[in-house]
Amino acid sequence: MKNKPISSYLNVDEFKQTAEKSLPRMVYDYYASGSDSQVTLSENENYYKNIKLMPRGMIDVSRIDLKTSVLGVDLSSPIMIAPTAMQCMAHPRGELETYTAAKNLGSHMTLSSIATTSVEELSEHANGNPGWFQLYVFKERSVTINLVKRAEKSGFKALVVTVDTPFLGRREADFRNDFSLPHGLLLKNFADLPLNKVQGGLNKYIGSMVDSSLTWTDITWLRTITKLPILVKGIMSPEDAHIAVQNGVDGIIVSNHGARQLDTCPSTIEVLPHIVRAVNGRVPVLVDGGVRRGTDVLKALALGAKAVMIGRPVLWGLATAGHEGIERVMTLLSEELRLAMAFTGVTTVSAINSSIIWNPSSASKL
Ligand SMILES: Cc1cc2nc3c(=O)[nH]c(=O)nc-3n(C[C@H](O)[C@H](O)[C@H](O)COP(=O)(O)O)c2cc1C
Repeated sequence: MKNKPISSYLNVDEFKQTAEKSLPRMVYDYYASGSDSQVTLSENENYYKNIKLMPRGMIDVSRIDLKTSVLGVDLSSPIMIAPTAMQCMAHPRGELETYTAAKNLGSHMTLSSIATTSVEELSEHANGNPGWFQLYVFKERSVTINLVKRAEKSGFKALVVTVDTPFLGRREADFRNDFSLPHGLLLKNFADLPLNKVQGGLNKYIGSMVDSSLTWTDITWLRTITKLPILVKGIMSPEDAHIAVQNGVDGIIVSNHGARQLDTCPSTIEVLPHIVRAVNGRVPVLVDGGVRRGTDVLKALALGAKAVMIGRPVLWGLATAGHEGIERVMTLLSEELRLAMAFTGVTTVSAINSSIIWNPSSASKL
């Protein structure tokens, strides 16, 4: 099937439609699915639609600057790439293409532990500066230590420790499809482990490797084996955010794992302001889940996020046209953001705050 020219794509959803038509059903379902009844999956996107932005007029918005930085990472726009597993199912060069897109755009990616490209391969492609590394803490601590050491040696600049996966959520489509890695692909960070010989039921096997006894003392333990900054990903509760900061983490990623873990939990944008309040500026707060429009990015920043991360939109771009597809997806989001900033009268990322969100109860009584 011939895809239409990339420049004719106008929004993230059009990329999703092409990905759905072109990817094998098992792969598309793996990427698209949420857990159980997928209530939170729709909520993540829909809650954004309930938040209203207030247009402002007569402000000089002839120049808009999208640049920002997060933990020493300079970004051309406050949109980063979330870690998603097994990207070579979407494109033969998978994670390498994703890196190329991030580099070309002045953005930034996080490599998944369960990637189809190893930390060493990505590092070589990235001239020793491959971004951040997402870490699952495995039961077998020697596997975790080994992975952290390899990530450090490969030039990764931070660890993103995912804390919402004591077990894998139930994604029914994966059971139906008996999800497994397509022939010829490997989880390259574990080339020596039996993991790569598993046929069906791959999710179950991965789930069984992850340590479900993880507690905050393990963050202290991680600190003893690495000097890299540690962000925790998968925080939804303000209490957890507070405890995370007390345990010395360097950043918080508000995430419900793209609605793939606990179904019927709140959307991420719903809890974001509560977490920002609990963290109280002590560390940067990022958010992911359901970001599909530039207006979503603006709302997340207005509610206190330093930047957003996107997961599936990147996979849809990658499946459609490799790095060029991702670049188009992210450029569209940035251009939408730029326009939304102009309409709400803000010209820099640092000037974005909650005053651009319509709140009838605190409306001025002029
Ligand atoms: C197909 C897929 C694979 C994912 N793999 C991982 C992973 O390996 N590690 C991780 O921490 N999060 C993983 N996530 C969660 C993402 O990092 C991110 O939280 C989520 O995709 C954001 O929601 P969005 O897809 O609506 O943008 C995955 C998400 C998807 C959709």
